[in-house]
Amino acid sequence: MTLIGHIIFLLLLQSSVLLAWQDYKDYQVYELTPRDSSEESLLRKLAREKPQWDFLGPIRWHNESTVRVMLPPEEASSLVSLFESHQLRYRLLIKDLSPLVQAQRAENLRSKQRLQLPHIDVLAAFYTHAEINAYLDSLPERYPKRAQVKQFGWSYERRPLKVLTISNGDGRRNKPVILIDGTVHAREWISPSMALYIIQQLLDNYEENQGLLQDYDWVIMPVVNADGYEYTHSESRYWRKTRKPTTDPDCVGTDINRNFAHEWGHDAGSSSDPCEDIYRGERPFDQPESQVLRDILLQYSPRLKWYLSLHSYGNYFLLPWGYTNNLPENYQDMMDVAEAGAFAIVHSTNGIYSYGSTYYVLYPTSGDTADYALGVANATVAMTMELPAGGFSGFDPWVSHIEGLVTESWVGVRAMAAEVIRRYPS
Ligand SMILES: *[C@@H]1O[C@H](CO)[C@@H](O)[C@H](O)[C@H]1NC(C)=O
Ligand SMILES: *[C@@H]1O[C@H](CO)[C@@H](O)[C@H](O)[C@H]1NC(C)=O
Ligand SMILES: [Zn+2]
Repeated sequence: MTLIGHIIFLLLLQSSVLLAWQDYKDYQVYELTPRDSSEESLLRKLAREKPQWDFLGPIRWHNESTVRVMLPPEEASSLVSLFESHQLRYRLLIKDLSPLVQAQRAENLRSKQRLQLPHIDVLAAFYTHAEINAYLDSLPERYPKRAQVKQFGWSYERRPLKVLTISNGDGRRNKPVILIDGTVHAREWISPSMALYIIQQLLDNYEENQGLLQDYDWVIMPVVNADGYEYTHSESRYWRKTRKPTTDPDCVGTDINRNFAHEWGHDAGSSSDPCEDIYRGERPFDQPESQVLRDILLQYSPRLKWYLSLHSYGNYFLLPWGYTNNLPENYQDMMDVAEAGAFAIVHSTNGIYSYGSTYYVLYPTSGDTADYALGVANATVAMTMELPAGGFSGFDPWVSHIEGLVTESWVGVRAMAAEVIRRYPS
């Protein structure tokens, strides 16, 4: 190609990147604070009726709970007039998300200029699925006795879905297992960072953490929703679901965390509408990524002591069940484990976590992965951890905040792991 040809090619490439990249121009984020249960119900009704309003967290009215909602520009005036007429409490957090989205994108790209794959510095940037895979693939060479990578399948767009097993290398087989996944929801970027930080604590910081590997193996899948996650890097920062088309030609993607076959399909905790963010799919496990996670859960089922799914945001340890207000038989045991995590964190950083059944602490969910892990895969303890919020939306911490978030969260994960190992010795 000639020099001019090169330049034209680069310009075209750049403009196509710019065209594909959603800049969230004039998208607004509001914080809403319902005063009582009737305002809570009204907000829930709005969340159902207005799929263009992206409620970014759970709607509750207890204890001055707030919820953030993200709106495209054309919806803002309707929110304001509706909220004024109902005298609902609201506060504008940001009136144009685009500078934030652009600044964070630039920050992240800048942070990665020195990136030399397969080495990654977890605290220095947010990494793509391909970069994370390259890193995972390098670990067995660096830690031949202690790290093992296995591919369990493919995403819908044919990305390889990989899982890392970490042991202490003593050759003892069939130890009990702690199974951790991340990035079931694409936009929750602190989740893969946390999974990677746990990996580094167990491999690079082995001396300090070897007690956690003495009698247990750890199985870690940093990115479940590979296609959705890639999409948040390349096109649409606040995408949540998978990227497989649905029955509705206008709406793509299914919520993996509503797609699992334990009490799947309740309307209270999921949606049959493909345009909603909690769309459960046509059938349980009609998403390849859900099938892969199911297969992993079932493969480790006989040894599975603790299943931990890393999400954000909200500072919660969420236990089964999501689909009913009944409590599981071993609820108190799971609460004790969650309490160990909550106490360790408040002691270390003053960070507050709430814990309890998903149904009570948050809202009904059906077909979520923790319910399946407990109800079908027979995990002893099953839990979703909602890591803390970052940025205006809650999903976008700055790179400079990664360290604070993951080190605090590791204090909790480590304490809970120790509690699980103490309670359920091999
Ligand atoms: C509300 O806050 C109080 C005191 O902080 C706490 O004891 C209580 O459990 C909270 N209630 C809910 C529903 O979170
Ligand atoms: C879970 O436990 C139940 C009851 O013991 C058993 O019937 C079922 O096969 C177990 N599930 C798996 C995946 O092994
Ligand atoms: Zn989530």
